[in-house]
Amino acid sequence: MSAVVVVGAQWGDEGKGKVVDLYAPYAHLVVRYAGGANAGHTLVVGGEKLILHLIPSGILHEETKCVVGQGTVIDPAVLLKEIRALGERGVSTLARLLISQRAHVVLPHHKLIDELREAKSDCAIGTTKRGIGPCYEDKVARRGIRMGDLLDGSRLGSNLEANLQAWRPVIKDLGGTLPDAELITAQYAELGDTLRGYIGDASAVVREAVESDQKILLEGAQGTMLDIDNGTYPFVTSSNAVAGGACAGAGVGPTHITRVIGIAKAYTTRVGGGPFPTELEDDTGQKLRDAGAEYGSTTGRPRRCGWLDLVALRYAVAVNGLDEIAITKLDVLSAVPELKVCIAYELDGQRLSHLPYEHIDAVTPIYDTLEGWDDELPSCRTRSELPIAAQRYLERIEKEVGCRIGLVSVGPDREDTADLRDPFYG
Ligand code: IMP
Repeated sequence: MSAVVVVGAQWGDEGKGKVVDLYAPYAHLVVRYAGGANAGHTLVVGGEKLILHLIPSGILHEETKCVVGQGTVIDPAVLLKEIRALGERGVSTLARLLISQRAHVVLPHHKLIDELREAKSDCAIGTTKRGIGPCYEDKVARRGIRMGDLLDGSRLGSNLEANLQAWRPVIKDLGGTLPDAELITAQYAELGDTLRGYIGDASAVVREAVESDQKILLEGAQGTMLDIDNGTYPFVTSSNAVAGGACAGAGVGPTHITRVIGIAKAYTTRVGGGPFPTELEDDTGQKLRDAGAEYGSTTGRPRRCGWLDLVALRYAVAVNGLDEIAITKLDVLSAVPELKVCIAYELDGQRLSHLPYEHIDAVTPIYDTLEGWDDELPSCRTRSELPIAAQRYLERIEKEVGCRIGLVSVGPDREDTADLRDPFYG
């Protein structure tokens, strides 16, 4: 039995899609455990780009089965679009893709409420407006609609009616119009019918995989610093993005998790509002944005860019229990002659090496400056082939956060990867 978690170690967009696609051939099953269509996992194969929002990033590997677990929230129309887009590329999903009947459904009014709230500046946090927050609110309030409900028209109708009643005053207060329950019921029952062959008891399949000693890759979404409990609250998403979320979100016991791999960019980015101590609002930040094509894969928003924050990464190592870090986008730093890494924060005259509970927006980063490199990296296949300055950069990260680096991504394509190893054996 072997289950490996792949988790975002920063504010999302770390390149989990590429890493999961590289690890998937070693796994029998890839299970996405949290989040929804707010995520955008980008795969580049032979120069061709594919963005997945809901379907696990292992789907391009025919031998690997993919599961969307109960911890996720699903917009069925987005899911269907993704299934069809894969079909057009010749990737068959039937009998290889299973959607948990327990996963909650993102409904039209979830997206409406998310948008209306974001439009009111006093409560905006810069969400993706994909209805994620309101959908998880329904789940916790125990009035949500689950994927399994889409398969039973009359249950769907009555549950939806009750659900809309609960939101009625909120939508009115936000100046919106309550959607028509019958119309949504008809639309979603039809979506359920189309998706019927994909919806089932995913956690039972995951349990069977555990019992029959299969290798399971658990794919996270967003990142540690966006986790509802561990992130920079309230500027977070609404699910447990951390490795611990994989247990509840996929239906795997903690004793079955054998390794946890954190994905971190060689610098830092963030989309949406919230504290970002190492943010660069200058030419260097723009250089990183341009070189790294740092524009949201879901919303197209320019990502905020900054130096690598080792205080935040140290925190991610601790709260996820990381065994290893995969560093992505190291090649992007070739554009910058002199590199800074944040090794501590200063707050009220005190040096902090750990993330404080509050006032993260008020800390001053303490940097060390490291030598950069000019060379292009995409042809490097092992760490020892990297320029010496790049090797030193990686060594410094390992030393500061107390966790070893495994895989290093040196370009967007699958091929542009150094030190790829079977994640189940380290
Ligand atoms: P929500 O998840 O759409 O509610 O957005 C909450 C916060 O999480 C916002 O700051 C979003 O920009 C951020 N966020 C959500 N999903 C992602 C992601 O996949 N990558 C990066 N940021 C994300």
